[in-house]
Amino acid sequence: MPPITCIEDLRRLYLKRVPRMFVDYCESGSWTEATLRRNLADFARIQLHQRVAMGIEGGSTATQMLGHEVAMPVALAPVGLLGMQHADGELLAARAALDFGVPFTLSTMSVGSLEDVAAFVQRPFWFQLYVMRDHAFIGRLIDRARDAGCSALVLTLDLQVMGQRHPDIRNGLSTPPKPTLRNLWNLAMHPRWCLGMARTRRRGFGNIAGHVKGVSDMSSLSAWTAEQFDRGLDWDDVEWIKERWGGKLVLKGILDPGDARRAVDYGADAIVVSNHGGRQLDGAPSSIGVLSEIVARVGGDCEVWLDSGVRSGQDVFKALALGARGVMIGRAYVYGLGALGEAGVTTALELIRRELDLTMALCGVRSIADIDQRVLHGQ
Ligand SMILES: Cc1cc2nc3c(=O)[nH]c(=O)nc-3n(C[C@H](O)[C@H](O)[C@H](O)COP(=O)(O)O)c2cc1C
Repeated sequence: MPPITCIEDLRRLYLKRVPRMFVDYCESGSWTEATLRRNLADFARIQLHQRVAMGIEGGSTATQMLGHEVAMPVALAPVGLLGMQHADGELLAARAALDFGVPFTLSTMSVGSLEDVAAFVQRPFWFQLYVMRDHAFIGRLIDRARDAGCSALVLTLDLQVMGQRHPDIRNGLSTPPKPTLRNLWNLAMHPRWCLGMARTRRRGFGNIAGHVKGVSDMSSLSAWTAEQFDRGLDWDDVEWIKERWGGKLVLKGILDPGDARRAVDYGADAIVVSNHGGRQLDGAPSSIGVLSEIVARVGGDCEVWLDSGVRSGQDVFKALALGARGVMIGRAYVYGLGALGEAGVTTALELIRRELDLTMALCGVRSIADIDQRVLHGQ
């Protein structure tokens, strides 16, 4: 195997090792994928300001997120169906992140359940919540997250309707995959993946199946999911969710400064400037493109984080320079997980930390707190 030098190397291996349906689910954006592309292009456009002879001995990427020590300001974003990218993907990614010293966020739409992950890692992680019409179920889910020892609730606000991703429709995305001729043929080309799946019992939506009346098999579950996302979600819901949860609350999916202000007014401890990795509103600006404006509006009142398009430690550095206090990564660690399992997630984190550390050194800063606009060319 050639050496893994960057996230793109992990991606190349990922494309070989994971069945088509789940690669497409990860890689695609909504409609024309203009926002997906813009996320990457806008990061690439930002230029850095090199400094020399700055005495950069003893630099560190360590800092805090939500008051907790982290090895670097990078959290694993919630990603649905991680357990289809690799058998027991949620459990392995969580352990890799926590061993590395960064937060892991479990998605509502995960394969491994809250209880599975809690028993496996025995340490606090974060839980991401989607709001469904069945508020009694949501209330129970929040209680389960608390019982599982989760230390923050990440409430996603930008997916009350699902962005259309063409490949998922073409592939008839489901978990586990339906036994059509096309799927069986593609699975047969990925024996390593199949072997892993044959060895685990986790193949459905672990947080949901068995916890909602009338939802026990996969077909009724997907129908239920399509019907259940609550379009009525509003700030009153944010209020009752905050109250029911009672702990640290992160609001994810914010692109508008006014919405950011409201998020703070409704008690968010952190917000995530995010366009869901280009998977929701196609035509929306990149997250990095709107970051400064949102930081200017609420940066003094809560932690502002960013996701969408982060593929390197340099991207992390650029987001911090524009005022983010932390970032979340999605695809960057999914590539590692699908390529090499738990070790691949660790590799993704190591690559990002090394890139961040080197970039800090070349720009003449020694600590995360020292990264500001001055490290950008032309500022
Ligand atoms: C395959 C996939 C599944 C995702 N599932 C969820 C999810 O269940 N909940 C959620 O809040 N965000 C979800 N997201 C969005 C991520 O949390 C994050 O916002 C996004 O991946 C960031 O963009 P990046 O992939 O360019 O890093 C998903 C993203 C991907 C790629």
